Amino acid sequence: MSASVVRYLTGITTTGTPHLGNYVGAIRPAVQASRRAGTENFYFLADYHALIKCDEPARIQRSTLEIAACWLAAGLDAQQVFFYRQSDIPEIPELTWLLTCVTGKGLLNRAHAYKAQVDKNVAAGVDVDAEVTMGLFMYPVLMAADILMFQAHKVPVGRDQIQHIEMARDMAQSFNHLYGEHLVLPEAEVDDAVALLPGLDGRKMSKSYDNVIGLFAPREQVRKQIFSIVTDSRAPGEPKDTEGSALFQIYQAFASAEDTQKMRQLYASGISWADAKQMLFEHIDAEIAPMRARYEHLVSHPRELEDILQAGAAKARERATPLLRELRQAVGLRNLASAAGAAKKDKAKAALPSFKQYRESDGLFYFKFVDAQGRLLLQGGGFASPREAGQCIAGLKAARALTAGLAAAPGVGGEEVAAALRELADAGN
Ligand code: TRP
Repeated sequence: MSASVVRYLTGITTTGTPHLGNYVGAIRPAVQASRRAGTENFYFLADYHALIKCDEPARIQRSTLEIAACWLAAGLDAQQVFFYRQSDIPEIPELTWLLTCVTGKGLLNRAHAYKAQVDKNVAAGVDVDAEVTMGLFMYPVLMAADILMFQAHKVPVGRDQIQHIEMARDMAQSFNHLYGEHLVLPEAEVDDAVALLPGLDGRKMSKSYDNVIGLFAPREQVRKQIFSIVTDSRAPGEPKDTEGSALFQIYQAFASAEDTQKMRQLYASGISWADAKQMLFEHIDAEIAPMRARYEHLVSHPRELEDILQAGAAKARERATPLLRELRQAVGLRNLASAAGAAKKDKAKAALPSFKQYRESDGLFYFKFVDAQGRLLLQGGGFASPREAGQCIAGLKAARALTAGLAAAPGVGGEEVAAALRELADAGN
């Protein structure tokens, strides 16, 4: 594994059946992204998370089956990526506990989903904790474990999930602060170019609005659903607006730029809604039909899917097992016979200065370089993103390595080192 590989990780909660909005907004872009060079991609079925929202066993199982089949049918190559089921990785709940022990309750009190339930309870005049399970409260810790377990750098998410990624970062920082640099700090990646698909009624396509078009629903049903998209009352022959037309937006998500342009002209020249719907159906069908056979095959051969997931879990655990071993060692869950040697190593590590990253109330990102006693050696900051702060730290670390290297070179004295650094700095300007 080379140091420059960027790891992406995405979790899919296994409640419900995939619809066209999931396909356009998540599955299709992720499958495309999974083919980028220089990346490793982790996709997993977040079935532990599903338990937080759903207490129907049959539904959890069915949804896991359908979602797994869906991603594979859409072209995800399980050989090329890491594709696994969360509950097949026992290291994830174990890491969840390690993180739980370094996470302030106050941090979790601020989580949006939990807070929303509390606010609702307060408004309804019932107990603040009504319907709050510890699963809901701990949701962000489990999610942090998902991410940190695989040392993901980037987590593509919708805006509603940004807070969870920042919490995962906070937990990683707390852990590293206490036990040394073991966990990679992840970053959210929000892609605004990814289409938010409107549903049948023009609002965002979502299960909760019951306005979805099923991704692998039978062809005739998809056709019916498309014909039920809400349009205005303009008659055939009357020019129509593409602006605010859900039908047009869905069309755009499936058509080439050229075909979209043609549809724009057809709107202007008064295409009938029925004809426009027929064209939309044909475009969607052309994209989905080739995947449907694979989907149906997988759903009716769950054994095959199970084998794919088992293989995926084995591959993922090749990463999770050694990291968890390292973390157990770091916190002191150790083989007793190794006690003497390890204590010495802890001391040696504690004697080294280290970088700490944090965020201030001004919303900007800062870092400190502190010695083993916590004395401040250097402070930097005012960065707009954690990434920029990280780059500055990386630069300083590189400079530190360079200085050490030059100082260690035979025949090189302080003067020469200083001169070389000045040259370097000038070259950078
Ligand atoms: N919470 C995510 C959602 O509802 C699903 C999820 C679980 C996830 N674990 C994750 C997403 C880790 C990204 C990374 O969409």
